[in-house]
Amino acid sequence: MMMVTRSFQLFVLFIFTLTIVITECAKVTQNPDVYNITKTIIHSAVSKGAVCLDGSPPAYHFDPGFGDGVGNWLVQLSGGGWCTNVKECLDRAKSDLGSSNYMNPQEFQGFFSKNQSANPEFYNWNKVFVRYCDGGSFTGDVEYVDPATKLHFRGARIFTVVLEELLAKGLKNAKNAILAGSSAGGYPAMLYCDGFRNSLPNTSRVKCLVDSGYFVHFKNPVLGRPFESIYKGIATLQLQGSAKTLPKSCTSKMKPELCLFAENIQQDIKTPIFISMSAFDNIMTQYTLGGGIYGCIQEGTCTASQNKTLQEMRSDFLNAIPKGNNPKLRGVFIDVVHHHTSLQKQTRWSPVKPIVVHNLAAPKAFADWYFDRNYTYLIDERSLPLPNDS
Ligand SMILES: *[C@@H]1O[C@H](CO)[C@@H](O)[C@H](O)[C@H]1NC(C)=O
Ligand SMILES: *[C@@H]1O[C@H](CO)[C@@H](O)[C@H](O)[C@H]1NC(C)=O
Ligand SMILES: *[C@@H]1O[C@H](CO)[C@@H](O)[C@H](O)[C@H]1NC(C)=O
Ligand SMILES: *[C@@H]1O[C@H](CO)[C@@H](O)[C@H](O)[C@H]1NC(C)=O
Ligand SMILES: *[C@@H]1O[C@H](CO)[C@@H](O)[C@H](O)[C@H]1NC(C)=O
Repeated sequence: MMMVTRSFQLFVLFIFTLTIVITECAKVTQNPDVYNITKTIIHSAVSKGAVCLDGSPPAYHFDPGFGDGVGNWLVQLSGGGWCTNVKECLDRAKSDLGSSNYMNPQEFQGFFSKNQSANPEFYNWNKVFVRYCDGGSFTGDVEYVDPATKLHFRGARIFTVVLEELLAKGLKNAKNAILAGSSAGGYPAMLYCDGFRNSLPNTSRVKCLVDSGYFVHFKNPVLGRPFESIYKGIATLQLQGSAKTLPKSCTSKMKPELCLFAENIQQDIKTPIFISMSAFDNIMTQYTLGGGIYGCIQEGTCTASQNKTLQEMRSDFLNAIPKGNNPKLRGVFIDVVHHHTSLQKQTRWSPVKPIVVHNLAAPKAFADWYFDRNYTYLIDERSLPLPNDS
């Protein structure tokens, strides 16, 4: 008995000392404003066939909440373009956008920062950065795996297992929660917004945030074609005609690839959504007009005809976003800087270099809207882009 107690005391002392050592090391090396979070791999997802392009298990990065933030959750679906044919998907399967084998730790800052003065309203929330590794904006649910390519198109299943895992970790009791998505992650943040909402207590505050992921279907057929062809490629590979993961309210009316345009599903979503994006999002402009548009906007040397096209794109974009008649349900923050994403390029969602419209910074505009203080519906009225300043 005596011996046991003695060993136990030594063990406690050892742990105590170890804790001090670890804490001291952390103090020396950690910059509280940018820190790395290692990946959590969901091994159990493999038996459910919820896997990345290469068949590896999906992953996310998790930083637990603390203080009075323990009941609050920010879940971000990351972006990273798409693969639209087998060749592109095979290449992607050899990278961190197609396989968890290649995923490094993720830097958390900006919206993900623990620094109270930099991130006053969310610093102590639970934060989850879900890795994108399916190539199709988390929409695929194809059982068949071609033995020649071994590619898996299972993004919708990945979303499901990640959500199950987070619910079990405490998300199911959330007081406040946000499902956010950047770029290619923006569409699924809308697609799964109601499902996410319905998984949480009906008393909790649940809203979704689409960051630079609202790519529109331009009316001019020449401008419309590039995104049509991207979405056609995704529909062919990942939906394979069945499109069972997309809302029936849309697929009953139009082809699945058209239901990958945010504007064609937004009106059927019941949960509040906030859209933060530039009317001249530089992925939208470059995919549509080619990379050359970037340089001329940076240098102020675009021709009259290029400017006219940019204005036409802006006008289509403004027509495609939700109208301003119910900003509580659909908040918007539309700037004119030629940039792409604020959350994923995290210094943009911080005091370092936020996007500002009428002296209001995007993170503040969103927080006001989220916490029901001011239902932001704000559009920069300038009709030509400003160069990207970061
Ligand atoms: C995070 O890890 C990456 C390597 O994956 C490294 O390049 C980077 O410097 C690290 N950042 C911090 C803040 O430690
Ligand atoms: C926290 O954020 C504030 C405001 O951005 C900044 O001035 C300060 O240096 C940051 N603190 C740390 C420890 O990084
Ligand atoms: C939440 O759900 C419970 C039980 O389903 C119901 O009684 C209650 O009225 C609901 N509350 C709200 C705010 O919808
Ligand atoms: C096109 O617009 C830019 C501002 O974005 C301006 O600097 C440039 O002079 C315009 N080009 C012409 C030909 O007017
Ligand atoms: C509330 O939001 C509107 C835009 O929707 C903005 O013009 C106004 O300045 C905001 N008010 C405050 C107090 O931030």
